[in-house]
Amino acid sequence: MKFTYTFGAALVAALLATACGKKEEAAPVAATPAPAAAPAPAKTAVEVLHYWTSGGEAKSAAELKGMLEAKGYEWKDFAVAGGGGENAMTVLKSRAVSGNPPTAAQVKGPAIQEWAKEGMLANIDNVAGPEKWDELLPKVVADVMKADGHYVAAPVNVHRVNWMWANPEVLKKAGVAGMPKTWDEFFVAADKIKKSGNIALAHGGQNWQDFTVFESVVLGVGGAEFYDKALVKLDPAALTSPTMTKAVTTFRKLKGYVDDASSGRDWNMTTAMVIQGKAGFQFMGDWAKGEFTAAGQKPGEGFLCAAAPGTANAYTFNVDSFIMFKLKDEAAQKGQADLASAILSPEFQEVFNQNKGSIPVRLGHDMSKFDDCAKLSAADFVATAKAGGLVPSIAHGMAVSPAAEGAIKDAVSQFWNDDKISVADGVKNIAKAAATK
Ligand code: GAL
Repeated sequence: MKFTYTFGAALVAALLATACGKKEEAAPVAATPAPAAAPAPAKTAVEVLHYWTSGGEAKSAAELKGMLEAKGYEWKDFAVAGGGGENAMTVLKSRAVSGNPPTAAQVKGPAIQEWAKEGMLANIDNVAGPEKWDELLPKVVADVMKADGHYVAAPVNVHRVNWMWANPEVLKKAGVAGMPKTWDEFFVAADKIKKSGNIALAHGGQNWQDFTVFESVVLGVGGAEFYDKALVKLDPAALTSPTMTKAVTTFRKLKGYVDDASSGRDWNMTTAMVIQGKAGFQFMGDWAKGEFTAAGQKPGEGFLCAAAPGTANAYTFNVDSFIMFKLKDEAAQKGQADLASAILSPEFQEVFNQNKGSIPVRLGHDMSKFDDCAKLSAADFVATAKAGGLVPSIAHGMAVSPAAEGAIKDAVSQFWNDDKISVADGVKNIAKAAATK
């Protein structure tokens, strides 16, 4: 049988020759190319909009990317920079309006209901039911993830907003013994730090950061009950009360302790000032801890964490979540279900939150591998839920409608930026903004 050499025969000959130890020179053949291998089936894309672009945040987001890729999906990273998410929401709206939403988007709190009302969200009870999310999640969280009784979003974590971060070296150099527990103690410590030649308070002058500091001041001056009345129920009497006047006065006083380059500075560049020992304190949610962690620092050594002055028995919660959009394609729907399931998995909850600075949203998650700040946060979350100090963060979209939040945020930020606005007018402007429907 005339044996015509094909590329395959030459390959067999070479392999046999090698196997038998004889190195025959493969005869030159006019190789006929083997049939091209069938192209691998295209992977289903999972596209997720988020605004986690700082060092610590990006590391956290990469965990989710890795999990979905391990499940065989193509991760399309729809990252939109801008702390607090205002930019991301603008981009999301334009994508959704064009009828081309991503698989999921980082949306949280009352804004979830607004998307649900548009009829754009997928019902993911097919995941939440079998995985018993109603038992896994604190009720306060589960309720926020549902529209008309059905899950439409998956919660990722619990961030605490009312934190104060500090550089122990800066405090020591200034002769500040410990973390201030009251606002009066804070200002004494801040004066000492200024006198020692450092910046007392690292603050990024952006509206959402001004608002973040403001809500901790209101919580510390008035307590959780007052915070709830004024900034969750938007009660006009509370908003124009002497307590609110005292909080706005305290907020204004902080201005004297920030540096001239504060205006417009991103939150993570501001945290870097504390990490590098240029500043003593920062008031920021515990995504800031993700920056200390990414810098290889440990609580009690490279940095200190404590509840913002006057807020040790309170907890402003901020739950990141991903809304799931209605998708036509069945494979995409499967990808969405796998995304939701991965987010609530114990493995993801562990590694994501260790990087992100938040705590797992799953009840009863073993906290033994988390650092002391996270353990304190987890203990305080449970304690304040029982004792009544657990309140939703208004600055991070958990408490009121996006319209009211935006109006109050602007009034607070305008007051922070314009020293010509008196405290009395600041109080009036905030109360007026809170009436925005
Ligand atoms: C919050 C968000 C956090 C973090 C922070 C800074 O609103 O919940 O996950 O991204 O903004 O951007």
